[in-house]
Amino acid sequence: MRINVGALSEVATLQTHRLRLEPQSTVHFHGVWSMLHNEEGRRLTGTHTTFTEEQTRLHLEKLPLRHDRADWAIISTADEAYLGEVVLNDLDADNESMNLRIALGGNFGRGYGTEAVRAAVAYGFDQVRLHRIGLEVFAFNRRAQRVYEKCGFTREGVARDALVWNSERLDAVQMSILATDPRPVE
Ligand SMILES: CC(C)(COP(=O)(O)OP(=O)(O)OC[C@H]1O[C@@H](n2cnc3c(N)ncnc32)[C@H](O)[C@@H]1OP(=O)(O)O)[C@@H](O)C(=O)NCCC(=O)NCCS
Repeated sequence: MRINVGALSEVATLQTHRLRLEPQSTVHFHGVWSMLHNEEGRRLTGTHTTFTEEQTRLHLEKLPLRHDRADWAIISTADEAYLGEVVLNDLDADNESMNLRIALGGNFGRGYGTEAVRAAVAYGFDQVRLHRIGLEVFAFNRRAQRVYEKCGFTREGVARDALVWNSERLDAVQMSILATDPRPVE
């Protein structure tokens, strides 16, 4: 197998210009819990499920034991605030591919999302040695699409009526970046 699973069993802490991406665990419970209750965030990520406190704690407890994903808490180095999470999941080792998702709890439009996605993508390609990172983003979520494009993702197609939200059917856009694609830094 070409990929380096070790980089998923021992997920490294990543440092960027303004952020620290540290392996997410129970110490981040309060940040995760408040993010899960952000109505705008739930709409933008199409989250229908309501997680209980127990389910959330259990999920966080199990993360350090997983060897098939990387979940980072996004921390502002200026004030140590929890900003959100960025995740590489859905490992398909045979095809050297994973999925990426990101959610901030607020502080939108300050460049934090772009900074975190670039760091997670770099880790996926340079440390895990993936060939492909894919994702799905709702068609109405133009800000997220812009961020992914800035990080080098290409739009592949549209999954029609992928989401039902408030009785409305909405499309999702499929995007990906390959290890061989350019990774713009600006
Ligand atoms: C998506 C998300 C991670 C982006 O992070 P962010 O820190 O807010 O985004 P950034 O500040 O890095 O970049 C935003 C970019 O989108 C652009 N933008 C903002 N609103 C836009 C809109 N309505 N249409 C097009 N572009 C838009 C900004 O101008 C900026 O691009 P620029 O640098 O070229 O000017 C963050 O907003 C978030 O967590 N949202 C809620 C959850 C979510 O949507 N997750 C993604 C699910 S797929």
